[in-house]
Amino acid sequence: MKKLLIASQNKGKIKEIKRYLKDINNIETISLLDLNFNETIEETGTTYFQNAFIKAKAIYNLYSDYLILADDSGIEAKALNWKPGVNSRWHHPSGEDKQNLDLFLSDLKNHKDKSARFQAALVLYVNNKLFYTFDGTVQGTITGRPTGDHGFGYDPVFYVESLKKTMAEMSEQEKDQISHRGQALKKLKQCLIKEDF
Ligand code: IMP
Repeated sequence: MKKLLIASQNKGKIKEIKRYLKDINNIETISLLDLNFNETIEETGTTYFQNAFIKAKAIYNLYSDYLILADDSGIEAKALNWKPGVNSRWHHPSGEDKQNLDLFLSDLKNHKDKSARFQAALVLYVNNKLFYTFDGTVQGTITGRPTGDHGFGYDPVFYVESLKKTMAEMSEQEKDQISHRGQALKKLKQCLIKEDF
């Protein structure tokens, strides 16, 4: 049995990752929440990959019995020069989803161009000599007010034209099919099935 540790304390991300990987045989997936790990890892990188790598390596140094999976992701608005991006988590100093989202909406209020995208980078850290990276992106537009109560973070304001829904109005399956994280997880899943670590 392979043991995979999700290097995150974000309940929304963990839920999505666990459900995406649940039907792979021979993999037991846990997260930092299951280990009651509540320290903060400084994300000092300037790209999603750098930050995912920093998190994965830091957790591998503590839990080297596991394959480590780190996710770094964020939302980017064109009118804000593709910000908040890697700083999405701390867009508002509180780091709370509701405050982040309200501030993001107010930043965009006076801009006509509401186009945006979500980006995700995953790092699967096998050991100090081997790691894999996977990414995903999804385009959308930012709505005037939050709609829907599924998902987490910025989902209630991210509208996807192909489904005519915000991410928070989508079912879990719909979000997994189209989301930035879903696309990256699809590649990760193929790798986990194929490789014998
Ligand atoms: P990280 O933990 O540093 O990667 O922070 C990611 C930030 O982007 C958090 O504020 C999340 O709420 C937000 N974010 C990432 N992925 C999603 C998503 O799928 N839906 C909504 N917000 C997301």
